[in-house]
Amino acid sequence: MARNPVELAGATPGPSFEITMDGRAVPVLPGQSIAAALWSAGILAWRTTRVNGRPRGAFCGIGSCFDCLATVNGAPNQRACLVPARPGDLVTTQEGHGRADLAV
Ligand code: FES
Repeated sequence: MARNPVELAGATPGPSFEITMDGRAVPVLPGQSIAAALWSAGILAWRTTRVNGRPRGAFCGIGSCFDCLATVNGAPNQRACLVPARPGDLVTTQEGHGRADLAV
């Protein structure tokens, strides 16, 4: 017997919507975090490290490690695992510390 969390909770999810990740449309179910939506779409990395430019995505998934930082609607350093996705959110890959706009 196949069971999933929706069946166990007796929930009826609302309609899906879309966010955009680096220009790519990503489907989202109501209640998903940005990280959950990106994972569901097969996107595993959305940040590069400050020193070596290595790819990073979600690690802990509970707001503790800061690996999942992303730029959301132009605001850098948002923990994607904690930010609920909202219709039309524009998510972009964050390079380094995410503050290139402050460079002199
Ligand atoms: S995955 Fe660790 S803070 Fe988001």
